[in-house]
Amino acid sequence: MLPERVAVTGGAGFIGSHTVERLVAAGCQVLVIDDLSHACEWQVPPGAELLVADCGSDQVAEALACFRPQAGLHLACRGGVQRARRDPGNFVRSSVASSVAAFRALAVAGAGRIVTASSGGAIYGQPARLPASERTPPAPLSPYGASKLAEEGYLAAIGREYRLATLALRYGNVYGERQDGTGEAGVVAISCTRLAAGQRPVINGDGEQTRDFLYVGDVAAANLAALASRRTGVVNVGTGRETSVNRLVGMLVELAGGEGPDHRPGLAGEVRRVCLDATRARRWLGWEAGTGLELGLQRTLAHFRERVASASGASG
Ligand SMILES: NC(=O)c1ccc[n+]([C@@H]2O[C@H](COP(=O)([O-])OP(=O)(O)OC[C@H]3O[C@@H](n4cnc5c(N)ncnc54)[C@H](O)[C@@H]3O)[C@@H](O)[C@H]2O)c1
Repeated sequence: MLPERVAVTGGAGFIGSHTVERLVAAGCQVLVIDDLSHACEWQVPPGAELLVADCGSDQVAEALACFRPQAGLHLACRGGVQRARRDPGNFVRSSVASSVAAFRALAVAGAGRIVTASSGGAIYGQPARLPASERTPPAPLSPYGASKLAEEGYLAAIGREYRLATLALRYGNVYGERQDGTGEAGVVAISCTRLAAGQRPVINGDGEQTRDFLYVGDVAAANLAALASRRTGVVNVGTGRETSVNRLVGMLVELAGGEGPDHRPGLAGEVRRVCLDATRARRWLGWEAGTGLELGLQRTLAHFRERVASASGASG
């Protein structure tokens, strides 16, 4: 059963927005904690409360003590692989330190359940065998992956100290409506933005790198299933299917009817091939990815077309 009161850090972001919508629709009282440093274009729905603050701040600890959440979902994170690689020390200060403070504040406020967003795409590094299961030894290739692994460790330690049920969800490569298509991460969102604007998509490197692409609605469903469960440990949230960036962008080009991609130099710190074994998610959470890649990409492209059309309408 879902907890009645849930605090969601990073709840105004891409994955957070989809998750908060579902929690509110399910009748939960939701406190969204977000500093809006990378919030998506989305209004926190009526029924959820928004606190604009760093999730590691004293202000958040005080608000949580008043809200008394039964569960916390931690999605706040400042940037991805490339940002963390450029300045790992700052990434640890701005993201990992805030995460650890948020875990502790949730525990002190009485949350019996804490679920955090981790990364199956970054934690395993380059696994010898695919799909990577939770038994694959973690071997991150980037400070981002190392930070996610550290956060998992801190959460487990806080869970043991406060006797909480804690779970880290190791997501694949999430795509869908409301993702930022203007940054350096998110090949689907960036490609959709370019195609919707009549530009050629861009591929970093030879495009034969593979990812486990996962639709955001399925990730939101996994988040709710994790909040409703008492399972402790780590769980992969993926499809078990490997898709190359060339194939993915090819599908988008075909759907959009645009021109083929431009290739640029590859990026350092990126994994070559990955996909995630989701057997444990099925067993523990009764969850599996229900949205096929073609359908997910169609929905995402339609969303970005509308977004680009309304932005050009507003500026024209
Ligand atoms: N998108 C993916 O493919 C993917 C894959 C694996 C893991 N994840 C993880 O899932 C989580 C959510 O990712 P997303 O794609 O929705 O990112 P996002 O950037 O869209 O959302 C993160 C949200 O957190 C907020 N935020 C950042 N730092 C904060 C802080 N210190 N205090 C309060 N709010 C803060 C931002 O304003 C933003 O709204 C992150 O932990 C991310 O690392 C994402």
